[in-house]
Amino acid sequence: MNRLDGARVLVTGGAGFIGSHLVDALLRSGVAAVTVIDDLATGHRENLDGALTDARVRLIEADARDVDVLDDSMPGTDVVFHLACLGVRHSLHDPRENHEVNATLTLELLEHARRSGVGRFVHISSSEVYGTALYAPMDERHPTFPETVYGGAKLAGEAYARAAFRTHGFPVTVVRPFNAYGPRSHFEGDSGEVLPRTIVRVLAGETPLVYGDGEQSRDFTHVTDTARGILAITESDATIGRTINVGSGSDVTINDLAAIVLAVAGRHDLEPVHLEPRPGDVRRLLADSSLLHSLTGFTPTVSLQDGVAELYGLLRDSGTDPAALLEQVEDRNWLLQAVRRG
Ligand SMILES: NC(=O)c1ccc[n+]([C@@H]2O[C@H](COP(=O)([O-])OP(=O)(O)OC[C@H]3O[C@@H](n4cnc5c(N)ncnc54)[C@H](O)[C@@H]3O)[C@@H](O)[C@H]2O)c1
Repeated sequence: MNRLDGARVLVTGGAGFIGSHLVDALLRSGVAAVTVIDDLATGHRENLDGALTDARVRLIEADARDVDVLDDSMPGTDVVFHLACLGVRHSLHDPRENHEVNATLTLELLEHARRSGVGRFVHISSSEVYGTALYAPMDERHPTFPETVYGGAKLAGEAYARAAFRTHGFPVTVVRPFNAYGPRSHFEGDSGEVLPRTIVRVLAGETPLVYGDGEQSRDFTHVTDTARGILAITESDATIGRTINVGSGSDVTINDLAAIVLAVAGRHDLEPVHLEPRPGDVRRLLADSSLLHSLTGFTPTVSLQDGVAELYGLLRDSGTDPAALLEQVEDRNWLLQAVRRG
């Protein structure tokens, strides 16, 4: 029997991209109940359409900053997964609210969970706490010099999580996922990620847009691997009190990513267009996930090539005209200057 068998779990941000995949994985692992708190700021109820057909799942559509919501939902919880967050681009136009959700809310949740006798707290941080790679691959001892308020607030949140373990012995693990991608990833608005944005552009017959020289790189991990990694961490006692990367262990430049999308689409006639670099854009992120592997035996399974082809197929067959999808994409530099679509 694993730790999650029969457990009652609470997932903040569970209607989001990674959170909804985590809920799916939790249901497969035999939990007794999953309570999701999500205000749908960037998440979507449809992400949980499948999960909500399962009687074990309850969605509380509310702001997790609301203390009454926590008072009502926390008692009886065995494991908390904290994923609620506001993203990098949000931090540029509303740094205070970004800090409130990514840092202050984490502190509040930790306090609530500890006082309610929660048995395990899994805090989802981000590789963005590192800033750009000073060496690669980046292990958990890599210095943390975040480049954005988002990265700074995520770092504050994880520092509070570690403090709860050190000062109170509260069984916390800090997880640092590297860039996740896959079904339900955001292409729209403020939350739009480079891969789905690029796919939507190419489906609509537009060239990929690349900020700067395109030689910035990321460690892209398929979201089902990210969710499985989080579960593997939760099921192990050896991970308590630790800070652990979850990545694929190889990085790809944005130029290469655009080339993979164009190859999958068979659009060898399209050439990426390069735009001004984005200020604060991290240059390189590449995970050293050997700690995760040594503590849990976990390894990712989905190749980038397969994952891109899957996401391309899903967006192509979404039933929505690519031009309408493209309308929802905000291609703009972080300086918030709108970028021409064509
Ligand atoms: N996507 C990635 O590549 C990536 C990489 C590293 C770390 N992460 C981390 O993983 C977690 C999930 O990210 P995601 O990519 O799924 O983002 P997401 O935006 O899809 O999910 C975040 C969820 O939190 C919800 N939320 C925001 N503020 C809330 C509040 N005050 N109360 C309740 N719910 C709130 C949103 O509605 C959304 O559903 C975040 O903590 C993020 O920092 C993501």
